[in-house]
Amino acid sequence: MHGFVSGIARKRASREDRARHQIRVCAAPAPGAYEWAVEYDRHCVGHAGLRVDADQHGATYTVGLFVAELRGRGLGREVTRLVLSWAFGELGVHRVELEVLAFNRRAINCYLACGFRQEGIRREAGLYPDGWKDLILMGLLRSEYAAQGAASDNADADAGSGLGSGSGSA
Ligand SMILES: CC(C)(COP(=O)(O)OP(=O)(O)OC[C@H]1O[C@@H](n2cnc3c(N)ncnc32)[C@H](O)[C@@H]1OP(=O)(O)O)[C@@H](O)C(=O)NCCC(=O)NCCS
Repeated sequence: MHGFVSGIARKRASREDRARHQIRVCAAPAPGAYEWAVEYDRHCVGHAGLRVDADQHGATYTVGLFVAELRGRGLGREVTRLVLSWAFGELGVHRVELEVLAFNRRAINCYLACGFRQEGIRREAGLYPDGWKDLILMGLLRSEYAAQGAASDNADADAGSGLGSGSGSA
């Protein structure tokens, strides 16, 4: 467990040495359930979690940033990409899925940016103080995740070989 987490923290640190945020494990509440705390400036500002279904080689993802001012600045995408990297890499799952409220555009955009695809709508599946809400099911397959990595590797290679726009800037 600690090995997994230090792996995630190491990846984060090597990407951006001066980063003020990282994710750390805080607890494993149940077998097959992993929880991480998102730390920013030494404060816990959010969480991420995976609930693993070992029989189906899949996992359900959850994420949330408690501090509103930190939302919409790319942190959710970074955390999600780190957890996906760990889920498909270390854990070796076939699929990661999640549910999100249909009106939560920021969260949906974050997940789309990380490669998730919309798979369906569970109509009026969530009961909230102001009524029933639709939930969107999103999923990301191992093959799609791998293709995403290959595409970004190719983009890096093109930029490195000068085949891009020719501007020379990263
Ligand atoms: C969902 C959440 C984790 C996303 O993290 P985040 O750091 O805010 O997201 P990011 O900044 O990485 O990405 C947000 C995306 O939505 C876009 N966005 C930002 N503000 C937005 C807004 N108010 N409305 C719609 N889209 C918005 C961004 O441009 C970005 O899209 P892009 O990658 O195409 O540019 C975070 O917003 C959060 O915790 N929200 C409250 C709890 C929650 O909704 N949890 C998810 C439950 S499923």
